[in-house]
Amino acid sequence: MEDLNESKQTQLPNAGSASGSSEQQQHIHKLIGSINVLMWLVGILLFVVFVAMGYLLNNNGKSTVQSPDTTLLLTQEGASAIPAIGDGKDYWQAPSEDEMSKQANAEQLLYGKELIAHTANFLGPKGSVAQITNGMNCQNCHLKAGTQPWGNNYGSVASTYPKYRARSGGIEDVYKRVSDCFERSLNGKAPLKGSKEMEAIVAYINFIGSNVRKGDKAKASGIYELPYMDRAADPEKGKVLYAAKCISCHQTDGSGVLAADGKSYTFPPLWGKNSYNQGAGLYRISRFAGYIKANMPQGATWESPQLTDEEAWDIAAYVNQMPRPSKDLSKDWPKIAEKTFDHPFGPYADGFSETQHKFGPFKPIKAAKDALTKDKK
Ligand code: HEC
Ligand code: HEC
Repeated sequence: MEDLNESKQTQLPNAGSASGSSEQQQHIHKLIGSINVLMWLVGILLFVVFVAMGYLLNNNGKSTVQSPDTTLLLTQEGASAIPAIGDGKDYWQAPSEDEMSKQANAEQLLYGKELIAHTANFLGPKGSVAQITNGMNCQNCHLKAGTQPWGNNYGSVASTYPKYRARSGGIEDVYKRVSDCFERSLNGKAPLKGSKEMEAIVAYINFIGSNVRKGDKAKASGIYELPYMDRAADPEKGKVLYAAKCISCHQTDGSGVLAADGKSYTFPPLWGKNSYNQGAGLYRISRFAGYIKANMPQGATWESPQLTDEEAWDIAAYVNQMPRPSKDLSKDWPKIAEKTFDHPFGPYADGFSETQHKFGPFKPIKAAKDALTKDKK
């Protein structure tokens, strides 16, 4: 009997009215209570996690929900992610390679693209066609053969040239502009107009910009205009940042790293004898800062920049005070009043010093210039 009783109790714990059974009931009530509390806690926790994720994703503004961008969440030393430069809306896109290959002059266009991407193989110190440049490739600065948004792309070249440029004080066509980069950025000589190389480069640049209406400026073309700081850019701060973020590729002495074949650069130089000269666009710190903001260190893009605006300005100040080839600039900016705000060599039509034109602060310079042009109207 006892055996039976016991087995009844275990089988039907709620059925009996014995005191043992009521204790068990209490236990179970307690258990259910704890489970309820636990479930609430888990629920609240999940809610918090979802809200936090939504907040982070929103802050990055662009990540898809399925794959939160871990690189953004795990930026070095817990630094908060740096916001994208723009929204990507209507950004210019070059025609596809496929479209290019359907053109009557497809062969010329492909050669032009090759020359932009691998300039040094053809025209560098060990070039197969001529030895007329410092060994850099156009693509080192005009990323993805001049097609990358805010990567100094050629989107607006076909649509806006020929145009007046204050640096030369005259109307420039695409040939003249390309020659400028050969003579300044590549610190060398330009192939002649009519040569196979010059014609191919110009044909390629005109072709990829052919989907932009004449007179229009393509969105995200050229270099990003970085907002001015209220202070001057600081080369000392830039030096520290350079050591942390650039040195691994561009080296302590700024000379970069040559590729194994010795023809072109795996990591191009930022100063020294094989770098761009003092007449080059990048020698203006607004160009340099805008370029690196959207593209450096390698892997950064307009969507996921790795430098704050201030960091970009300070690094630009550091790199552009290092030694590099000079160029006779006596014929540049023939109208002094048209000299751009960050051209680092006088004379100037305004009262600001060479140092301020080189490092800023630029807001007062701009304001003075705007006031002048208003007076004229
Ligand atoms: C060291 C960097 C560098 C290299 C290398 C370089 N460029 Fe440039 N290029 C620039 C900068 C900076 C500008 C000015 C961009 C601006 O102010 O928006 C520029 C402007 C141009 C423009 C005018 C773009 C526009 O929208 O007005 C053309 C065309 C051009 N480069 C072609 C070339 C070609 C072709 C090569 C190779 C033979 C070359 N560049 C090599 C830095 C470089
Ligand atoms: C992981 C390697 C790497 C790091 C780090 C890096 N770069 Fe670059 N950089 C490159 C490569 C590669 C190119 C050429 C891109 C191409 O040809 O597509 C380049 C090109 C450049 C150029 C234009 C070409 C020239 O030599 O003038 C500048 C300016 C530049 N980098 C500045 C910087 C600065 C400033 C930093 C630090 C904030 C930096 N880079 C960090 C790899 C790197």
